[in-house]
Amino acid sequence: MRKPFVAGNWKENTDSRSSVELAKAVVAGSAGVAREKVTVAVIPPFVYLQAVVRAVSASGIAVGAQDVYFEPKGAFTGEISPGMLKDVGCTYVLCGHSERRHVIGETDALVGKKVTAAIGGGLLPILCVGELLEERDAGRTEQVVTRQLEAGLAGLNGEKMQAVTIAYEPVWAIGTGRTATPQQAQEVHAFIRGLLAEKYDKSVAEEIRLLYGGSVKGDNAADLMREEDVDGLLVGGASLKADEFVRIIQAAV
Ligand code: 13P
Repeated sequence: MRKPFVAGNWKENTDSRSSVELAKAVVAGSAGVAREKVTVAVIPPFVYLQAVVRAVSASGIAVGAQDVYFEPKGAFTGEISPGMLKDVGCTYVLCGHSERRHVIGETDALVGKKVTAAIGGGLLPILCVGELLEERDAGRTEQVVTRQLEAGLAGLNGEKMQAVTIAYEPVWAIGTGRTATPQQAQEVHAFIRGLLAEKYDKSVAEEIRLLYGGSVKGDNAADLMREEDVDGLLVGGASLKADEFVRIIQAAV
């Protein structure tokens, strides 16, 4: 059985005070939810990671980073290594979020290097994939997701795959209020699981958690989670309100 996983990606939001307040409110609001039943992670901006790690300590809530660089150290101004993230208490890291790909311009190959480096550094990468609206309209969703997975997972054997979570986030559903229907999410998730069974084996495919992201709210979380291959949710906007995020956590249990 795959344990449900709910992660809140705060993106470029909060400040030193509100990041801690939000983290504490999530801890308090979700205190009654058994941690054996659901994995919960919050993913604040880099500069608030340490404060948020302190705020959630002993709650069982994990902390993730929104990005990572693949080099362990050196002259890479502005970059943050897996070792640094681990050092401040991060467990997870997003790799290849759609905004990194489509706003910042990260390539599939760069994302793959980040995933490998994250695992090497003892982090658990959440590899994000998903198609643009024009790609979906052109019937190219599976092709795009396949390409992103091939590059994102390049060089990982079945054992390393145990560290990986995959998030399917259709770009047209992110921040638009236009959630994919549970059927649309299920269709792509089933496709991804099938692809992993072919590329690795059935047990790797059965064990990996596949999250859906894109306009997830308290109101649609339960319907999405009901789908067989939707194992969790990667939440953006709705994770900035503790009550709403806690509703989503409860819907995932
Ligand atoms: P929204 O939930 O705001 O659509 O963002 C989704 C997302 O990008 C999470 O990583």
